[in-house]
Amino acid sequence: MTQKITPLIAGNWKMNGDAGSFLEVEVIKDRLAANEVNAQVVICPPATLLHRVSVALHESAAKTGAQNCHAAPSGAHTGDISVAMVREAGGEYVIVGHSERRESYVESNADVKAKAAAALGGGVVPIICCGESLEIRESGKAIDVVVAQIIASCPDFDQSQEIVVAYEPIWAIGTGKTASSGDVDEMHNAIRAALVERFGDAGAKIKILYGGSVKPANAEELLGVENVNGALVGGASLKADDFWGIISAA
Ligand code: 13P
Repeated sequence: MTQKITPLIAGNWKMNGDAGSFLEVEVIKDRLAANEVNAQVVICPPATLLHRVSVALHESAAKTGAQNCHAAPSGAHTGDISVAMVREAGGEYVIVGHSERRESYVESNADVKAKAAAALGGGVVPIICCGESLEIRESGKAIDVVVAQIIASCPDFDQSQEIVVAYEPIWAIGTGKTASSGDVDEMHNAIRAALVERFGDAGAKIKILYGGSVKPANAEELLGVENVNGALVGGASLKADDFWGIISAA
């Protein structure tokens, strides 16, 4: 069922970063130029920095992405950005359905699916997030809940398009706690099986990222788990040395 998949290491800066962050971007760019890495690297800064980071990474192996988009192409949506705006700013990826947005803005699976479909329609790869709360993990229903969530959040796509899935247990985000490699293995296998059931061969090629307190110290172990095809990194993506440690672990 598993195929050889190039890992994707994506940095989600969340609401962090300023002009000084470009130093970190330059370090990553230089190290990518000087070293051969076995991973696709994506940096998702805040929307205000997306264009500048995209310009800074021009002709680099790293790509950029946004942290959110609206499902509509344009209109009266104060504070939102469209997929075309992401694209125009140089973004080739967009994170949709992060648990922080599902929680703060009550984004449903249907909302996330609509955003992901809009991304695909605009030539942007959606990184579709899923993950369970501690309460659900402790109830023993994590796999059922996450599989249902991701299947309801993924739009159909054709051969010319790509979707990426990110499993981020909410209790592991920004807490320093990571899921055990056994739990990650079990969850990623379940997600893979569900994606193959839904999308057939295309489902076997979808990158499934793990996110939640990924650091250089635990990256090798997590990235070594079957069906973990990369990482979605929050805090550790803000410092080039840490982010590079994770990229090199891939
Ligand atoms: P941390 O790596 O800071 O736990 O954040 C994970 C995350 O939410 C990435 O999207």
